[in-house]
Amino acid sequence: MATMGDHARSPLPRQLYTRNAQLSGPRATRTMHIPGHCGRHTCKVVMAILGQLQRSQVNGSFRPDAVGKDVVVFGWVQSYRDHGGVVFIDLRDRSGFVQLRCEPTPYADAHRLANLVRSEWVIAARGKVISRGENVNPKIPTGAIEIAVEELEILSEAQTPPFEIRDGIETNENTRLTYRYLDLRRPELNNNFVLRSKAYQITRQYFTGEQGFIELETPILMKSTPEGARDYLVPSRVHPGQFYALPQSPQTFKQLFMIAGMDRYMQICRCFRDEDLRADRQPEFTQLDLEFSFVTPEDIYSVMEGYVQLIWREMLGYDLTLPIRRMTFTEAMDKYGCDKPDLRFDLPLTDLTPTLKDRVEFRVFVDAIAKGGIVKALHIPNGEVFSRKDLDKTFPEEAAPHGAKGVAWARVTATGEWTGPVAKGISEDLRNDLNAQMGAKEGSLILFLADKASVVNASLARLRLVAGERLGLIDQKQWAFLWVTDFPMFEWGEEEKRWYAMHHPFTSPRADQLQNLESDPGSVLAQAYDLVVNGIELGGGSIRIHRSDVQQKVFGLLGLSDEEAQAKFGFFLDALKYGTPPHGGIALGMDRMMMLLTHSASLRDVIAFPKTQKATDLMADCPSDVDDKQWAELHIAKRRV
Ligand code: AMO
Ligand code: AMP
Repeated sequence: MATMGDHARSPLPRQLYTRNAQLSGPRATRTMHIPGHCGRHTCKVVMAILGQLQRSQVNGSFRPDAVGKDVVVFGWVQSYRDHGGVVFIDLRDRSGFVQLRCEPTPYADAHRLANLVRSEWVIAARGKVISRGENVNPKIPTGAIEIAVEELEILSEAQTPPFEIRDGIETNENTRLTYRYLDLRRPELNNNFVLRSKAYQITRQYFTGEQGFIELETPILMKSTPEGARDYLVPSRVHPGQFYALPQSPQTFKQLFMIAGMDRYMQICRCFRDEDLRADRQPEFTQLDLEFSFVTPEDIYSVMEGYVQLIWREMLGYDLTLPIRRMTFTEAMDKYGCDKPDLRFDLPLTDLTPTLKDRVEFRVFVDAIAKGGIVKALHIPNGEVFSRKDLDKTFPEEAAPHGAKGVAWARVTATGEWTGPVAKGISEDLRNDLNAQMGAKEGSLILFLADKASVVNASLARLRLVAGERLGLIDQKQWAFLWVTDFPMFEWGEEEKRWYAMHHPFTSPRADQLQNLESDPGSVLAQAYDLVVNGIELGGGSIRIHRSDVQQKVFGLLGLSDEEAQAKFGFFLDALKYGTPPHGGIALGMDRMMMLLTHSASLRDVIAFPKTQKATDLMADCPSDVDDKQWAELHIAKRRV
């Protein structure tokens, strides 16, 4: 295999193949002038094949039944090698690659050109499909045949790429993103987009077909709708000092479509959120956005279950058993410490606070409980595989980003006794109770977290994943779907000392709890639901508020004065007064779904031109400064920062 930077056969002077290219085939040729093709000069390039013959078939599609056919193929040179005077070229296109065989006789011109080509040059070839005989390569789809080249043409040279164009190579991701068009040539990445296209077709067919949705578009330049992140703002040239916001989602518009009588709306739309980025978060991402009139959550679950079952079957041949499991938010937090538990394995958490209260002497636990915090444990049966280093370093380091100040632990001996830092502060009685509560026995490892509930849950949720992975409990072929239901309407924000909408401000409280909205907002449950797959939040939605007075009340609870609510959402509150059908909806993260379906580790592998962790486009060098004239037109003054 020729490798990058292989200059053993340095290219012949350019003129040689351009000037004599006519000779590479027996047929009459057409010439084209391509200005600038040859440095500063205009030169003649022969377009013999490209100009006159159509591509017979794509390169990855050749099978033994093609033997004997005269064909024309195009593509990129994946590799080239000279075996005793015969030049072999693997010619790649989106579908795969086919082997070209260039013999010195009788097609000497084609052979001479074949000797010139280098990796990633674009060429055309005409020839006959022949069997590889004994040299069949069963590992590649086209391995039974090769094309005996009679005519060859160089369509485009390539500089040596900064990395090899093939799968399975370690390349710095920033380099890949800078040369994204080359990265996208790699078969694995390329295929992700073929699959993405297929998923879109299935999606449109399902929703706009049997399910009766219509595909509608919503503005990109719009008034800000809160989804919990910062807005990307666009200054107006025409209205000095005023801004559009890019949609964090089309939430208000899809509700307005329901008021407009559209009944069922779907859109595959872009959303923009200025938030801290992670592997499963991009500043610009795509949602499958849906809204339904006259629905209950059950209707929505049923339509969505039909959809994911279809997609998983068509894309992966996976047979998803319905109905999808459900779990309340409270149960998910109690048992798994998060609202998107990975249920491919169990390892539940146990809240030990009631058992420990007033009985434990271990200082860390006593202090946490005294401050109104909790103590929870992750019980790992057969925890011997975790070393002292894991206990002292790995676990605390994994938990620290979630606020944990430490991770206490105990190992359980054959007699049920404990070793480790917690052992001393626990009486035999208490220890027996705790062992019984968790089902701990010989070989068990118990990890303890003591702090306020949010820190304990987030930290143990992380440690549960670390332990599950290390113990090999995660079956990579399994798909654990889950509906998480009964989210609280609000969560309390300590910093600003106010309530925040847990989903978004348009989410309806449960009808039977409306009366508690003002007296005890923290107790009110929302008609909201998330769809979780293997520990990833794939989608979320809710039944909406369809009464203007309730909507106004919720805005008030979220700290918006009547004037602010009117200024930000007056149009929407008005619309609700003109006959609003009860409605609800959901949005799925399409990028996340494709990440799951292609087994990718990052959203960046399923978004053609993604942003980096720092929200930059390395290829185009964006964001970037603009002309002074543009600053002025937008009425923005530069300030030194
Ligand atoms: P939500 O904010 O839950 O709901 O978003 C829905 C889904 O969009 C995906 N998602 C993201 N994907 C990639 N990068 C991001 N930064 C990102 N943020 C969200 C997730 C998520 O589950 N308007 C409501 C939906 C509704 O109520 O109908 C909404 O946007 O997969
Ligand atoms: P210390 O008393 O700080 O030496 O901590 C004793 C043990 O408790 C060590 O194993 C710490 O990692 C652990 N620890 C410290 N803080 C916490 C906490 N908030 N929750 C659980 N364990 C902790």
